[in-house]
Amino acid sequence: MPKKELLIKAQEARKLSYSPYSNFAVGAAVETNDGQIFLGANVENSSYPLCMCAERNALYNAYMHGYKKEDLVGLALCADTDGPCSPCGACRQVISELFPKTAPIYMSNIKGDVKETNAEELLPFAFSSEDLK
Ligand code: THU
Repeated sequence: MPKKELLIKAQEARKLSYSPYSNFAVGAAVETNDGQIFLGANVENSSYPLCMCAERNALYNAYMHGYKKEDLVGLALCADTDGPCSPCGACRQVISELFPKTAPIYMSNIKGDVKETNAEELLPFAFSSEDLK
């Protein structure tokens, strides 16, 4: 799938955001190697620490449909930010475990600014299951 389509899906996913506290809607889309797209949006709660980010919801959505790290080929996120929206630290940790190291991650905003990166760049020296051994 062309990167533009994945970015459009992430922008569409913003509409699913439940963000009455921050009024900051984020959308994300994960692409699989068989062409499926799984969406995620941020879902907030009056108990603020329970808020869940768009990127994690999109990844968990793909996993809940039976897909695994090796099946995932792209991830896009979109928010109304000045520059391309950058994943938070918690999402970087989850991305580093659930998403391939060098597959493209497209950070974007609703104006159409895009920056491509990957999990390795987003979280160098990540803590991982290897450290638990
Ligand atoms: N948020 C995301 O969904 N993804 C990020 O990477 C950054 C932050 C959400 C969490 C919260 O609902 C709102 O944006 C404001 O922080």
